[in-house]
Amino acid sequence: MDPLISKIVIAIDGHSSCGKSTVARELARKLNYIFIDSGAMYRAVTLYALRNHIVENGIVDREKLKADLSKIKVYFRMNSQTQHNDIWLNGENIEDEIRLLEVSQNVSPVAAVAEVRQLLVTLQHEMGIEKGIVMDGRDIGTVVFPEAELKIFMTALPDVRAQRRFDELTAKGETVSYEQIRANIVERDRYDETRDESPLRRATDAVLLDNSYMTREEQLDWVMNLIPKI
Ligand code: DC
Repeated sequence: MDPLISKIVIAIDGHSSCGKSTVARELARKLNYIFIDSGAMYRAVTLYALRNHIVENGIVDREKLKADLSKIKVYFRMNSQTQHNDIWLNGENIEDEIRLLEVSQNVSPVAAVAEVRQLLVTLQHEMGIEKGIVMDGRDIGTVVFPEAELKIFMTALPDVRAQRRFDELTAKGETVSYEQIRANIVERDRYDETRDESPLRRATDAVLLDNSYMTREEQLDWVMNLIPKI
């Protein structure tokens, strides 16, 4: 992209496991923008909570979590080998751990805690001050960057999403059942859409992208056509 063209903020929100991060990462690479997977930050806090027995079987000890927030340092570091912005928690690279099903099964209740959201939204906001950023999540276009120049709301059929996630996890060697994954996806959507704190909503000015029957390349082309030519 022409470097003289002003940088913008691109917010990508949508349902669980519909490939938001994949599109956002490829878009950022193409535009030479920073990519931030905000879900990874909620997953990092969840991993901390799991390790410290603050969340178990989807039940969060809110008071203990709030008391521990000052001890939780979440940040991204460029991995020079993979050229990937890995997520770190208190000095440890946790890029792989945060994708475990146990984390997926406990992240929604952790992400529903107001103080967790305040902490992470403040960090996310700082990351976008200079623009030139693609951030994906659930509340990026509605809460984190309501002024974003481009907002996209992504979704896909639950069966398609479950199959993609199943293929991804089994390829990594995890033993999971398709039914378990589908149930987790549907449950996370329900939880994210009905929580009191920043529920998942399509911003009124967000463009809808249903990628159920689209390839990665088609999605990227589709989004690239929306980039404003300033
Ligand atoms: O995008 P993901 O599936 O990795 O996100 C994990 C969870 O984090 C998701 O179930 C809801 C929560 N989340 C959120 O509440 N707000 C965001 N901006 C991003 C994720």
